[in-house]
Amino acid sequence: MQEKLSQIRAKGIKEIDEASSSADLNSIRLEYFGKKGLITQLMRGLGTLSPEERPVVGKLVNELRKELEETWEKKNQAILHLEAEAKLEKERIDVELPGRKPRRGNQHPLSAIIQEITEVFLGMGFSVAEGPEIEEDYYNFEALNIPPEHPAREMHDSLYITDKTLLRTHTSPVQIRTMEELYPNPVRIIAPGRVYRRDAQDATHSPMFHQIEGLVVDVGITFSDLKGVLTEFIKKIFGQDRKVRFRPSFFPFTEPSAEVDVSCLCQGSGCRVCKNTGWLEILGSGSVHPNVLRYAKYDPEVYSGFAFGMGVERITMLRYGISDIRHFYENDARFLEQFR
Ligand code: PHE
Repeated sequence: MQEKLSQIRAKGIKEIDEASSSADLNSIRLEYFGKKGLITQLMRGLGTLSPEERPVVGKLVNELRKELEETWEKKNQAILHLEAEAKLEKERIDVELPGRKPRRGNQHPLSAIIQEITEVFLGMGFSVAEGPEIEEDYYNFEALNIPPEHPAREMHDSLYITDKTLLRTHTSPVQIRTMEELYPNPVRIIAPGRVYRRDAQDATHSPMFHQIEGLVVDVGITFSDLKGVLTEFIKKIFGQDRKVRFRPSFFPFTEPSAEVDVSCLCQGSGCRVCKNTGWLEILGSGSVHPNVLRYAKYDPEVYSGFAFGMGVERITMLRYGISDIRHFYENDARFLEQFR
């Protein structure tokens, strides 16, 4: 019996000594202390011994169990420590590595210009109005004094959805909607938004583009108010040193009407942008036509006003020297990133 015990002891100590992982140690634990483990069996075997042998052998087995347990536990502590160290080493973080910078986005150039223009007009006491992109024929044409046979109504210009609804071809319908809403109060609004025309895409045309409408209606508004407001606006956006020119024009919903030009950076010495004219056309404008006031219930004998409308893409292209309108819609990051 003594012989057997010392064999188990030697084997156990050697195995524990040679164990190199907690998995090794685990199987050793089962081998000796598990349900069918060597020590467990020895303990059970004690019952079969004679009353004289039992205490002697029992003591020896107990001592062996204790020794192996302690040896095992010591080794277990050592291995747990080593394994923890190895894990920390493996997961080491180099805190001095330069970080990965997230890619920063920026506003789309059109949004940026719309915001900039909006702020100029907010500064002059305007507020911002909106209207639907799917518009009724009445607001897009009829109430704007555009008669049924007017060329602007032709199917090849407009994108109709039904007989009476279309994608708005300009932001001018917001004039009527705002007057209906504010009557009989004075009006001083701008209305930025998308407009749609049945144009083929090329460097300067797109079937969808953006406009900013403006409308002022009150008692005693004159054409010189229009000139003052638009001159101030153009100088704020293009530079105080630029010249502004008002050219007679025609729109069905304004009378008289004027197109407004800003002097070209080439100062007339000749360039492609202004086609050697020295002037760049920026917007359409005019005094609100009496019929338009009447459609919105404002009495033209009491009220007067002025309106204007500009193409956002065109202004952005002139500001930044962009030669193709399609850049705005392709979302190529190399283009967009230049407007940080
Ligand atoms: N709605 C006109 C256009 O599309 C622009 C405009 C607006 C002209 C207001 C005069 C007054 O082109």
